Amino acid sequence: MKKSLGALPAVFPAPVLMVGTYDENGVPNVMNAAWGMVSDSDQITLFLAEDRKTVDNMHLTGAFTVALADEKHMKEADYFGIATGRKTPDKFARTGLSAVKSERVNAPVIEEFPLTMECEFVEEVNSKTLHCYVGKIVNVLADEDVLDEKGKVRPEKLGAILFDNFTSGYYTIGTRVGKAWHEGLPLHKGE
Ligand SMILES: Cc1cc2nc3c(=O)[nH]c(=O)nc-3n(C[C@H](O)[C@H](O)[C@H](O)COP(=O)(O)O)c2cc1C
Repeated sequence: MKKSLGALPAVFPAPVLMVGTYDENGVPNVMNAAWGMVSDSDQITLFLAEDRKTVDNMHLTGAFTVALADEKHMKEADYFGIATGRKTPDKFARTGLSAVKSERVNAPVIEEFPLTMECEFVEEVNSKTLHCYVGKIVNVLADEDVLDEKGKVRPEKLGAILFDNFTSGYYTIGTRVGKAWHEGLPLHKGE
């Protein structure tokens, strides 16, 4: 028996994205964003409320980074979703994490997170139903220890956390149970 839950706007899993920017004084800021996804072969789209300090910073610098939060830094990652750089200019410094400037875009790379996209801020899209921020991914930086011998990112090595919008939980990933574009092939035979 299925129960109706109403118009519940949740999927599982959602990512825990760490959006890094510089403010007007060149101070790093990071916000937590679960509403975001890769939206083309070299593009990521973030759904951000207009009042985020991150949004001001993106407009100012034309750039941002997106890192995947890991379990080791869950406390800091969650804090980045609680405090705002608007009221707490030393938000990033309070976490004790370290940042270096990206070599490609005008945005900070947070050293402790294992995987980071370096993005140029391309456009803000406002329609009747959408309000989002689009970035062109110019490069991805990965810690060597999350790569396999072929240089591919192994998700099980990332220690990434996932967001659950049903109960506001953070989860770690489980085991790899299949291969995409492969498990369904037996059903595709003869088409
Ligand atoms: C798990 C989690 C996910 C979040 N996802 C988003 C999001 O996708 N978009 C958004 O605008 N705010 C999101 N927030 C809220 C912002 O991270 C929060 O408002 C933060 O203070 C913004 O920081 P800033 O003002 O320094 O940019 C999220 C917060 C948490 C804890």
